[in-house]
Amino acid sequence: MATGYSLDTKERPFLGRDVLVERLWTFINSSDIVIIDSARRVGKTTLMKAMADSPPDGHTANWIDVQNVESPHEFFSQVFECCSSKLSWAARSALRAKKLVQLLSGLELGPIRMPNTSCLSWKSLMKQLVASLVTSEKNRILLFIDEIPLMLHKVLRLNSRAIVEGCLLRTRAM
Ligand SMILES: Nc1ncnc2c1ncn2[C@@H]1O[C@H](COP(=O)(O)OP(=O)(O)OP(=O)(O)O)[C@@H](O)[C@H]1O
Ligand SMILES: [Mg+2]
Repeated sequence: MATGYSLDTKERPFLGRDVLVERLWTFINSSDIVIIDSARRVGKTTLMKAMADSPPDGHTANWIDVQNVESPHEFFSQVFECCSSKLSWAARSALRAKKLVQLLSGLELGPIRMPNTSCLSWKSLMKQLVASLVTSEKNRILLFIDEIPLMLHKVLRLNSRAIVEGCLLRTRAM
């Protein structure tokens, strides 16, 4: 495992986590979801970025920070933006067009109010994104999602509990 990598714009050393990183790769190899939890400032973000920078052969990895996400649609958008380079052009365009329609519904544009028909349809977008990724990318795709508790807190503040539960279930099904 490399001992140096780029964190944000600064070059910083990544120290003393080789054993932990090896163990985490073992967990990740045998599970669909691995939760990394610790006290604050222990180094979760640094660790995930380092791992996303150097995935093992046969894996493609990305890291996203969802602390500013306030709705399932925004969550989908972040996952989409991060993974879209792995999609074929056709799949990317189809999802982008659908995403736009979904995001527009429920919005007020001047005197016009678009019908809010899509409260939960981000789930179908997410499902389609995952299906497209699986067919476009031969590597196993890993997504390191940072600050999920903050996202859930914000989504729960602005949405119903059912929507938050749906968000968690859909993420687990990815
Ligand atoms: N392995 C490491 N080697 C060197 N510096 C590290 C390492 N891990 C973390 N740091 C430094 O410690 C600080 C806290 O790290 P980081 O932000 O990754 O923690 P965190 O657990 O994600 O914090 P939070 O709970 O606030 O999200 C940062 O300045 C980071 O550069
Ligand atoms: Mg962090």
